[in-house]
Amino acid sequence: MDVIRAIEERRSIRKFKDKVVSEEIIAKILELATKAPSGKNRQPWRFIVFQKSKKDELVAIMKDSFNEYKKQNKPTGSFELSINSINEASAVVLVFNAFSNFEEDYNHYRLLTDTQSIGAAIQTLLLAAQDYKLGTLWICDIFHCDAEICSWLNCKEELVAAVAIGYPNQLPYPRPRKLLDEVTKWR
Ligand SMILES: Cc1cc2nc3c(=O)[nH]c(=O)nc-3n(C[C@H](O)[C@H](O)[C@H](O)COP(=O)(O)O)c2cc1C
Repeated sequence: MDVIRAIEERRSIRKFKDKVVSEEIIAKILELATKAPSGKNRQPWRFIVFQKSKKDELVAIMKDSFNEYKKQNKPTGSFELSINSINEASAVVLVFNAFSNFEEDYNHYRLLTDTQSIGAAIQTLLLAAQDYKLGTLWICDIFHCDAEICSWLNCKEELVAAVAIGYPNQLPYPRPRKLLDEVTKWR
């Protein structure tokens, strides 16, 4: 698929068909994600793929957190919508920063650099997935329950995002974008 077309046609997908995405395809799009550029070629991204019952366990943890938020009258925003999307998706990939919790001299600039690198990998994953006619949702609502997820996984790396992957069951209209003039100055 043409890259410009892929960029223009990409949408966040929140409804998925009940159809399994093969492990071969998931592995391929993750491999393509690792072709993304990264600051100092540090490749700070780490991935864990959840499918079937393991994904169900993740959803259960997220639902528990959601219910706790509700009980405490805390704002939940799109949390429930994100949980439902993960529930419907064939797979969800949790994305971690391999270094932020470990390097002694890890500073603000390293965090900015590594986070940009991880964002580049996620966007590459999203576009690669489209070539396989897959829909994806980039999710940061996991921050509502990152501690719970990491403790369940006994994972010490910092959780950065989740990406739900599946065959799309919706064709959303494009979400509005600011005009180029609003976000760009020419000097
Ligand atoms: C860093 C990041 C975090 C996001 N987190 C969520 C999320 O937790 N839940 C959700 O439904 N959408 C999430 N989104 C998707 C955005 O809502 C979506 O990209 C935006 O509304 C524009 O729509 P589009 O992707 O269809 O162009 C996230 C997107 C990004 C880039």
